[in-house]
Amino acid sequence: MLFGLYPKEDRRELFGRDAEVEYVIRQVLSGNWVVIGGQREIGKTSLMKVVINELKRDYGFRGIYINLRGVRGLDSLLNLIIAELNRSRVQLDLRISVNFMVGSAGIELRRNVKATNSLIELLNSIQDNFVIGLDEVQELSKASRQFLDVLGNVFSSNPRVRFIFSGSYIGVTKILINPSSSSPLHGRPPAVLNLKPFNDELSREFLRRGMEELGVEFNRVNEVVERLDGIVGWLTLFGNLYAVRRLGYEEALKLTLDEGRKIMMDEFKHFLENKSNKQLYLAIMDTVKVVNRWRDIKRGVEIRMGKVDDKELGLALEALVNSNFIVKKERGEYSIADPILKEIDYSNIWAKGV
Ligand SMILES: Nc1ncnc2c1ncn2[C@@H]1O[C@H](COP(=O)(O)OP(=O)(O)OP(=O)(O)O)[C@@H](O)[C@H]1O
Ligand SMILES: [Mg+2]
Repeated sequence: MLFGLYPKEDRRELFGRDAEVEYVIRQVLSGNWVVIGGQREIGKTSLMKVVINELKRDYGFRGIYINLRGVRGLDSLLNLIIAELNRSRVQLDLRISVNFMVGSAGIELRRNVKATNSLIELLNSIQDNFVIGLDEVQELSKASRQFLDVLGNVFSSNPRVRFIFSGSYIGVTKILINPSSSSPLHGRPPAVLNLKPFNDELSREFLRRGMEELGVEFNRVNEVVERLDGIVGWLTLFGNLYAVRRLGYEEALKLTLDEGRKIMMDEFKHFLENKSNKQLYLAIMDTVKVVNRWRDIKRGVEIRMGKVDDKELGLALEALVNSNFIVKKERGEYSIADPILKEIDYSNIWAKGV
């Protein structure tokens, strides 16, 4: 069902992403690792899950999906991988010996062994083509050095293991995309796929098809797309509220916007956490709601907070673009990426304290 709220797992439920599925599969088959990026609710997890399933079904891969939300260190990562291998009974040809035992319940870790060594042993012992999807990879930021060491080791030792990463553009994701010269992934950065919103035509088609599937007549497709744009998560949520839960049009739209605002506000506050010049970012967001050219943005920001240095403004804009809050258009113009982000009152966030 197109309007199902869980991340999609089956290609038949994944609307409008054929080219993206093909791209990631091709990268993985040719031995590259892949980072799937993009703003909140754009369909990263769905794409990752569908690709893993396609690789398993059509290309003889084994594979697992791991969500790293709440995972802080490599111990937890290792335990999650072991648990997932045992749970999903992936029949892997493993040559493990030192840090592991294989019992009736599957793989077990010996006592008092180090997570780094054990991860390396486990991953390098895999004899099958194996894909691991690591979602929300930014969560591993605290363990990033050891994590990169493990990845670097596996990358050079076991070409059968391929990673697909996803997450927001901070911490590890950023290092994966731009590995510094001291990183073990330097010179072999993963391929990057940045998921984009659907264009208007696709968005309308998505809503029509979803409604049709549920036998619901709906003729306000244009209005919805105008409000929610091509962010598939918001379109799905609206579709679900309207056609599955059967709320009225206004209520479904309002709930979608409320929910969206909550998610995007949290996301933005999270982004601000490690920034020293929070007020600048908030001023930029409020300004880019109304103007789009560099000159006007600078003027707008200065009206809000006084003189700013060009370089500092440039860096802040770049960070906002990298984190998918703002998009940079071809002619060097900037705009807010998601219509829901436009509904947030950023000066109010500042007033309330961030
Ligand atoms: N191509 C698609 N076709 C149909 N539904 C989709 C598609 N992509 C995503 N969805 C739906 O949109 C919602 C968000 O998708 P998903 O969780 O994959 O996005 P995400 O980018 O991982 O979000 P988050 O940033 O919250 O992790 C889910 O309800 C999912 O079912
Ligand atoms: Mg996700």
